[in-house]
Amino acid sequence: MPSAVEEFLRYEGPLNTASLRYTTEPIDVGGVTIPRHGLVAVALTSANRDDAHFPDATRLDITRTPTGHLAFGHGIHYCVGAPLARLEGRIAFTALLDRFPEIHLACDEGDLRWRGTMFRELQALPVWFSATP
Ligand code: HEM
Repeated sequence: MPSAVEEFLRYEGPLNTASLRYTTEPIDVGGVTIPRHGLVAVALTSANRDDAHFPDATRLDITRTPTGHLAFGHGIHYCVGAPLARLEGRIAFTALLDRFPEIHLACDEGDLRWRGTMFRELQALPVWFSATP
């Protein structure tokens, strides 16, 4: 479960971008120079699907150990709630699968609709499950 939660964070992290940054001097990023006083939106979800860092990055693989993902940001503003969020994720998914082991998607994956700009969220997540104890 710990590596699965890390992979969920990498593959479909809930924050598309970090807070806007502001450059105090020109900086080169990937061969592009961002000028002084530029506004920078760091695309966390895009970076998390970078094949240069995560082999076969567009594939969800809960058996991989996706170290270095940016779902919680990076550096001085790294998410202070990351340990709590990880713990909640592990507890919630473990409890859900224990209670409803047969739970599965109730539509085609391609029919899922996403919304949000800074936050990445589903309009709805239809699932099938049995309420039998
Ligand atoms: C899955 C859940 C969460 C995700 C994906 C997430 C993601 C992030 C990201 C990406 C940042 C950095 C933003 C930036 O650099 O501009 C951040 C910062 C922050 N997060 Fe979270 N977060 C989560 C849960 C939480 C929780 C549970 C708490 C508090 C209990 C929390 C509190 C904070 C705070 C206070 C900051 C600002 C830290 C700073 O600016 O120094 N987060 N979070």
